[in-house]
Amino acid sequence: TRYWAVVPAAGGGTRMNLGRPKQYVELRARTLLEWSVAPFLDLGWIDGVVLVLARNDGEYARLPLSRHPRVHTAIGGAARAESVLAGLAVVAEHSRGFRDVRVLVHDAARPCVARSDIERLRDEADERHGGLLALPLTDTLKRSQHNRSVETLDRREFWRAQTPQLFGLEALRAALRESIDAGIEVTDEASAMERAGVQPRLVRGRESNIKVTFPEDLRLADFWLARQEQ
Ligand code: CTP
Ligand code: MG
Repeated sequence: TRYWAVVPAAGGGTRMNLGRPKQYVELRARTLLEWSVAPFLDLGWIDGVVLVLARNDGEYARLPLSRHPRVHTAIGGAARAESVLAGLAVVAEHSRGFRDVRVLVHDAARPCVARSDIERLRDEADERHGGLLALPLTDTLKRSQHNRSVETLDRREFWRAQTPQLFGLEALRAALRESIDAGIEVTDEASAMERAGVQPRLVRGRESNIKVTFPEDLRLADFWLARQEQ
């Protein structure tokens, strides 16, 4: 089995409202992109990392990361699934000849992921169905209609999906292509795999593995990174 990581970093970060992509915002002297990729580069069992960049990216080439021997790049698309597919194509080129290639897909906007959780995902993911880091809900879950609560759902049935998500290279390529062709917007790899009839294993992650989405998330990410460094 060979392992690769794909890190989609081609988004525009519109909800951050910074006028530039959030993956290049700095926290503790490193960009979110560098924080998000570092644990994968630290793990020797991962053959390489493919970063998926926006076509008009003007910042990546300035980072020391761009000269790392195990880092490769691809050009992303308009939707996240297209960006991931572009990254998977580069993985396929570099892993030709290997039969069992598995890929960890991780958001460039999740800078606080713990190395030990990546390893646990590798160990606990299902050989056929793959897996993802996720957390059970703690809040009570409401169904809303016109801002009114019309039903309370059984919270034990719901988990929040995080990344990384681990799947077989060719199965994931096929599933993402099918979702794109069907015009369905998938916001994570697992949803494309579910459409293909797969039931990925939910591997319990951590609260600290947040996705930086809104401006206030930066302070929270800073808090978790400070704790990691201790
Ligand atoms: N992403 C990507 N290609 C896209 C859209 C998103 O590579 N066409 C990446 C982002 O760079 C990010 C991850 O997918 O690392 C998760 O997406 P999200 O948090 O939605 O980031 P953005 O799309 O950049 O933010 P926003 O939705 O607020 O514009
Ligand atoms: Mg987005």
